[in-house]
Amino acid sequence: MKALIDRLYKERTLSKEDFGLLLTHCTPENSEYLFQLAQSVSKKYFGNRIYVRGLIEFTNYCRNDCYYCGIRRGNSRAQRYRLTKEEILSCCENGYELGFRTFVLQGGEDPFYTDEDIAGLVSSIKKSYPDCAVTLSIGEKSREAYQKYFEAGADRYLLRHETANAAHYGKLHPQNQTLQNRMECLWQLKEIGYQVGTGFMVGSPFQTVENLAEDLLFIRQLQPAMVGIGPYIPHHDTPFADQPAGSLELTLFLIGILRLMLPNALIPATTALGTIHPNGREKGILAGANVVMPNLSPVKVRKKYELYDNKICTGEEAAECRFCLQNRMESIGYRIVVDRGDFCPVNLND
Ligand code: 5AD
Ligand code: FES
Repeated sequence: MKALIDRLYKERTLSKEDFGLLLTHCTPENSEYLFQLAQSVSKKYFGNRIYVRGLIEFTNYCRNDCYYCGIRRGNSRAQRYRLTKEEILSCCENGYELGFRTFVLQGGEDPFYTDEDIAGLVSSIKKSYPDCAVTLSIGEKSREAYQKYFEAGADRYLLRHETANAAHYGKLHPQNQTLQNRMECLWQLKEIGYQVGTGFMVGSPFQTVENLAEDLLFIRQLQPAMVGIGPYIPHHDTPFADQPAGSLELTLFLIGILRLMLPNALIPATTALGTIHPNGREKGILAGANVVMPNLSPVKVRKKYELYDNKICTGEEAAECRFCLQNRMESIGYRIVVDRGDFCPVNLND
């Protein structure tokens, strides 16, 4: 397996078969070897610097019905909320003071906000904080909408593909949601000029090793600036309530693989990773991640943005996550920097 990991390091990809083979050998020994290499790659591009993004979960209304997600339309027990523009701007004000230079506006696909509303929100944030990046994570929209947000100043867009296999996608989503549309959105976002992030859940129901290999090959093709992955975690009010959570070890192994594939990419140690293990995010950084995304949402709504059970970071203090993560990163020899943390294209052959 070490030869395969070395080849991945050198060539930044493998065949589908070899990815599958590697993924079935996620042992402690192979993990240790992979993480060493992945960490050395991260260190080369980022040193011990960790980028932070302030996550603002501004609406949990959603028109979609993904079977895995706690804020799916069909979950009548979710307590729905929307933040006003003023509330969102006040999160940013608070976040700026805390050293955030990227704000991630994340929400369900909520038709309440028109494309003009979103564009207006983005331009207000950019006007108040010209030295900050704005990332949108609001799902599948029309090309025109994406263009409008971009012209309003949005810098980045997160849209996980969830799974690159159409049959598997069909098992996770109702029929009106298609992988084809999702992928088209991603290509459009790239064309428009966004720094694009994609990603998937590890251990989602019905996922096979082959599916994961397909995810990696899709990412190889898309060449995203950012890749967010985290374990699947069940939510009690969804059709997948009884499905087992994804594994910590395999998620970390995939982070290591992604770092070797995309040496300069922005890879977060996600909240889901921190939810399945108390030190999940630290482990994520040590496997090759270089971004953390503290929660910046108003405390009163945090528990309501419940994509899965036992989600962490629902504490009493607005600023808690920022300092919590600072301590966590320092405990493993890394430091959070005050920086937009843009994707920097580099010559990977240097
Ligand atoms: N477990 C883990 N991740 C989830 N997401 C949604 N529901 C769950 C869950 N039950 C992820 C999806 C989505 C992102 C915002 O959160 O991948 O793209
Ligand atoms: Fe949110 Fe630790 S990062 S409580």
